Amino acid sequence: MKSITTPKWRQSLLYLALVADMHYGMGMTSRCRNVMATEFEYCSDLNTTRFLKRMIEAEKPDFIAFTEDNICGKSTTDAAESLLKAFGPAIESGLPWGAVLGNHDQKSTMNRQGLMHFISLMDYSVAQTNPSINAAKQHIDGFGNYDLKVYGPPGSHLANNSVFNLFFLDSGDREIVQGVSTYGWIRESQLSWLRGVSEQLQGQKQDSNDELVRAWPAPGIVFFHIPVPEMQELYDKEIVGQFQQAVSCSKVNSGVLQTLVSIGDVKAVFVGHHHTNDFCGNIEGIWLCYGGGFGYHAYGRAGWPRRARVILAELGKGENEWVGVERIKTWKRLADEKLSKIDEQVLLEVWPSR
Ligand SMILES: *[C@@H]1O[C@H](CO)[C@@H](O)[C@H](O)[C@H]1NC(C)=O
Ligand SMILES: *[C@@H]1O[C@H](CO)[C@@H](O)[C@H](O)[C@H]1NC(C)=O
Repeated sequence: MKSITTPKWRQSLLYLALVADMHYGMGMTSRCRNVMATEFEYCSDLNTTRFLKRMIEAEKPDFIAFTEDNICGKSTTDAAESLLKAFGPAIESGLPWGAVLGNHDQKSTMNRQGLMHFISLMDYSVAQTNPSINAAKQHIDGFGNYDLKVYGPPGSHLANNSVFNLFFLDSGDREIVQGVSTYGWIRESQLSWLRGVSEQLQGQKQDSNDELVRAWPAPGIVFFHIPVPEMQELYDKEIVGQFQQAVSCSKVNSGVLQTLVSIGDVKAVFVGHHHTNDFCGNIEGIWLCYGGGFGYHAYGRAGWPRRARVILAELGKGENEWVGVERIKTWKRLADEKLSKIDEQVLLEVWPSR
């Protein structure tokens, strides 16, 4: 088994880049959609590759999360080749990265299980087809449900404790419900696994001899592709970013948001699927954020630059040692000349009065 590189703190900071909806085809021959007429001529998947390289150079992330449609089903004649090209810049950078599947990925030469297995074996990928630690041996629906623990800085008293937990879930592709075609949803088996991991992490914390470890929350964030139905409710609420597309998700509400509210440690959800929504809004204490469309071969809006989201976790320092994650921020980078940084906001602040 290959060893998994986990993201490492840069002093007190950890930068995650979020890439949603690359819709990668076969490279130079896959043309751009919805760009200005003047931009069309030389525009292809290679522009997506270039944007990913520029993002990595500019933000120097410590981890990259792809909440995909990573590859673009029908226009991909060879899934393996497309995946290698799509994730190429991440692999070249040597940074750990993870991915979940969207609803388009499987429409080419590999099924969902095959795709996730392939992705899990790629260099520097932390992705897993499904949890390796599944004590109860229960069945888990979908492919690509896994978690990644971010331990405290090496040498510190938090070195053996996960201080920040990243969860990845498979939100499926399409399903027929009572004769009607709808999008997939996250199943009870997946939520039950999530609850289990969360309980285990919180239990380990409570068992620690270290008072600070016990006292300080270890927040989590979740990545999946298809939004939860509640995101539509944010239409007339206070949001940061743009809501330009109705939230078409599954007709089935399987209680993902309520599960997150009840387990308590997950503070934010990051999804893709709608390429021209890029907002974050809060419902019952959980942030629900879109990545914003990244890929040029995917639909978008001409004149509205492709974009990526960045998430920053910051460790706080007590009198003389790290206390844990005290702040999580997010912003977006546009694929314009200056890689403009927009919509910076705070998602979590544990010690706001300090
Ligand atoms: C795509 O890349 C080509 C070649 O570098 C460039 O001329 C073109 O402007 C790019 N298109 C967009 C929409 O960025
Ligand atoms: C972390 O675990 C390693 C290996 O078991 C041990 O040597 C080290 O002392 C532990 N560090 C802390 C802070 O508990």
